[in-house]
Amino acid sequence: MFKSARLKLTLWYFLTISFVLLLFSTLIYRTGSILLAENLSRLHLRLNTQMPRNLKNLEPQSFNFESDGFIEDLNFAKQRLLFNLILIDLGILAVSTFLAYLLAGKTLAPIEKALLAQKRFTADAAHELRTPLTAIKTALEVNLEDKKINKDQAMSVLKDNLKDIGSLEKLSNDLLLLSRVEHNHQEIKQRTIALDELLDELTNKFQMVAKTKSVKISAKAEHDLIKTDADKLIQVLSILLDNAIKYTPKNGKVQLNFFLEKNKAVFQVKDSGIGISKEDLPFIFDRFYKAETSRNKNKSAGFGLGLSIASEITKSLNARLSVESELSKGSTFTLRLC
Ligand SMILES: Nc1ncnc2c1ncn2[C@@H]1O[C@H](COP(=O)(O)OP(=O)(O)OP(=O)(O)O)[C@@H](O)[C@H]1O
Ligand SMILES: [Mg+2]
Repeated sequence: MFKSARLKLTLWYFLTISFVLLLFSTLIYRTGSILLAENLSRLHLRLNTQMPRNLKNLEPQSFNFESDGFIEDLNFAKQRLLFNLILIDLGILAVSTFLAYLLAGKTLAPIEKALLAQKRFTADAAHELRTPLTAIKTALEVNLEDKKINKDQAMSVLKDNLKDIGSLEKLSNDLLLLSRVEHNHQEIKQRTIALDELLDELTNKFQMVAKTKSVKISAKAEHDLIKTDADKLIQVLSILLDNAIKYTPKNGKVQLNFFLEKNKAVFQVKDSGIGISKEDLPFIFDRFYKAETSRNKNKSAGFGLGLSIASEITKSLNARLSVESELSKGSTFTLRLC
């Protein structure tokens, strides 16, 4: 598809260049012909005047253009002009067609990349949607066929279905949020917030889930107030804390810290969890990307959308999100507000 689009675009460039060349060449040829005629006539006239009268047997004033070979000289000069113009045009056309082909490739490359990413995204989303749907359908079909199913078994099937529906709901919410944050970059509602309140709110929000996993969660702030878009900040930190708890095994630790670095606000979410390998690290912010370790070891692993949502919100906050991690030792996600 993109090969034919590239060729079509090159053809359009080629036709445009050819048209411009034709226009300029006609103009040059016409002006050149007039100038040639003027200069040649002046030259012939001068030669005629300088010739001894007896050789020419003609008065200079009665100089005859046709008999003097003026027309042949003019035609010859015009032919040379035309030949040179065609030669130059062909050269320009060959070089510019080659450059047009390269330019067409460069013009289409980002579109091709975006389209491929969109395709991959749709395929991944469809795949993630299909998995719980298939599980629900299969469980319902199998149990409907079972004539001896008792109430407890039916309840257990319904519970499993509800879990799958919950995960479908989370996926659709995440997809919606991702699309919303991608298209609302400019909306920043800044307000001054008290850091201890913010950190308390966040730790309270995750206290329960951390407790059920026997993970200790703590927070520390080396400052009182900051001015930022609190809602967006809470969204990013929640995603980071959710991951930190999810990817930290029993008896692990999760810390949320705030400090100032060169007068810039810095939030850090540090965990003593499973860590991320060097191979996975460059891709964890990609949509639907799940590192091998989390896929294998963590049954509650999500869809791989959290960090891509976080990085989109970070962009709209004018902030920077970075990560340092070592397998089996833990990870530190750092959010620097600008
Ligand atoms: N604190 C962490 N420790 C170890 N691995 C992490 C951590 N945070 C993220 N990862 C890795 O990065 C991947 C992407 O994270 P992300 O939050 O985008 O997706 P997810 O947690 O798998 O699912 P979702 O957030 O959509 O429920 C995770 O699958 C995991 O492999
Ligand atoms: Mg996550």
